[in-house]
Amino acid sequence: MIQRKSKREIELMAEAGKLLAAIHKEIAKMIKPGITTAEIDAFAEKYMIDHGATAEQIGYNGYEYATCASINDEICHGFPRQEALKNGDIVTIDMVVNLNGALADSAWTYAVGEVDQQAKHLMDVTKESLYKGIEQAQVGNRIGDIGHAIQQYAESEGLSVVRDFTGHGIGPTMHEPPHIPHYGLPGKGTRLKEGMAITIEPMLNEGVWQSQMDSNNWTARTIDGKRSAQFEHTIIISKKGPIILTEQDNENS
Ligand code: MF3
Ligand code: CO
Repeated sequence: MIQRKSKREIELMAEAGKLLAAIHKEIAKMIKPGITTAEIDAFAEKYMIDHGATAEQIGYNGYEYATCASINDEICHGFPRQEALKNGDIVTIDMVVNLNGALADSAWTYAVGEVDQQAKHLMDVTKESLYKGIEQAQVGNRIGDIGHAIQQYAESEGLSVVRDFTGHGIGPTMHEPPHIPHYGLPGKGTRLKEGMAITIEPMLNEGVWQSQMDSNNWTARTIDGKRSAQFEHTIIISKKGPIILTEQDNENS
């Protein structure tokens, strides 16, 4: 059953989304060589608590941190750790805010210091692919339209789309139906209806799309050691078009 949100639920989720966007904007200022992802995690958790929110990821299937911090060839679900980020790294910070019982989910990839051209390309295309997916998140379109737009663009830029992790419905809990793959065929899959809340969160790789699981049973990384980037927003399907709840600046919507 795909839940559709009431006006009130959407308002509450928008508040959570605004808080999450503010945290990402702060993190953007903090990211530099020498900082650890454990410090970023502690900052994010404190920011949520200071603003009356909680970190929904803590305790989720036994996950222990407020954020996921995935560096370079890590695709997603990296653990925050006491290891300094280095000049040239890329790091994806992903988190879910719970504010008054409403959730918002957003991931963003950051460049640490000066990164090479390929990393810039990977990040630019991944972010752009998110917005191309969002453009398709229209009442009456199908889930395959979203994935198709992302995949077409990503592959035309020489990047690959991770298959093993998808976007998802979001509501009272973090992961609800439907799955939102970031690849697929136009006109296929579930039809999008007004009031649905979903995440779109493409993970694109420089090399092949296949992933392998670390021995911690959480962290996925590329099988070829090449890098992966991810950008994620929580959005509402509405008659007036997609509403991005986690937008940071309206710089790109
Ligand atoms: N925020 C992630 C997502 O986009 C979920 C992280 S899994 C967790 O779906 F268990 F670590 F929370
Ligand atoms: Co997320």
